Amino acid sequence: MKILVINGPNLSRLDIRDSSIYGDLNYAELKSMIGIAATQHGFEADVRQSDDEATIIGWLHEAADNNLPVIINPAAFTHYSYAIRDAAELVKKPLIEVHLSNPLSREEFRHTSVISGVANGTIGGFGPNSYVLAIIAMANLLSK
Ligand code: DQA
Repeated sequence: MKILVINGPNLSRLDIRDSSIYGDLNYAELKSMIGIAATQHGFEADVRQSDDEATIIGWLHEAADNNLPVIINPAAFTHYSYAIRDAAELVKKPLIEVHLSNPLSREEFRHTSVISGVANGTIGGFGPNSYVLAIIAMANLLSK
């Protein structure tokens, strides 16, 4: 089964972001790790990244129209994009929110997620492994 993995703003620049917060992998390495973990759990991962809110909304519409499960790291949009939340709500298959860092242990503005309320669950704080855990959780949800 195909799974859409959506990454929000600045995640393509993991090479120059703080590795003590976001882990040691660059975006290409993260993408490949997600692809391998997805294959191991019977998924074909379509891993995308955009800095643009409208593009991410379009991808969520695509997931809704094509009945695709979604793993999404909305990055900074997590904390304020009601438009992404409304689009995420349209997805009929499970949608899991992931974060590399643990936003709840960081600055106060990161403590709010406007996405969590429309996600099946949220996984954060495990670096790139957050995505692997999300894939395992997705396989579990879809097997029910
Ligand atoms: C992030 C956490 C967000 O607060 C931040 O804006 C990001 C990445 C994470 O994966 O830890 O860009 O979503």
